[in-house]
Amino acid sequence: MPGALVLHGPNLNLLGTREPAVYGRVTLVEVDRLVREHGRRRGLRVECRQSNVEGELIGWLHGARRDGFSGVVFNPGAFTHYSIALRDAVASIDVPVVEVHLSNIHGREEFRRHSVIAAVARGQIAGFGPQSYILGLEALLALGARRPQPRVNQRRRPRV
Ligand code: DQA
Repeated sequence: MPGALVLHGPNLNLLGTREPAVYGRVTLVEVDRLVREHGRRRGLRVECRQSNVEGELIGWLHGARRDGFSGVVFNPGAFTHYSIALRDAVASIDVPVVEVHLSNIHGREEFRRHSVIAAVARGQIAGFGPQSYILGLEALLALGARRPQPRVNQRRRPRV
């Protein structure tokens, strides 16, 4: 079964209690469960990881193909706005990366409106709360990371 790697950046481990007026009350454990369940329904194996450390996120991006993932759904948190190292990591790998955000970063403070990741990601989804991750998985599926379909009505090749 093809796999999708879901990466959460800094401070997202505090979801549920962190600025609930902005990020809601759903915890990261619950987000991960929702995303895994959606993946199961759609034939995608989903693995979720979170780190507050830039280098760890870079290592996971570098290893995504080796670890058997055909796409990455990535919420870089505040790194979105300034980490050229993460941007370069996304640009360096051939696995498609979809950038996601819980909040609509374009409607918030000026410094959040720019993403250094967006130009090298396959696309960006922002503003739908935990659903942003589900839409991110759907985007990967649309890019072709789907379960191999059973081949029907195959013509048998004549034996020689
Ligand atoms: C965020 C938006 C970022 O600006 C912020 O630093 C986060 C969360 C989001 O999911 O809305 O940590 O990436």
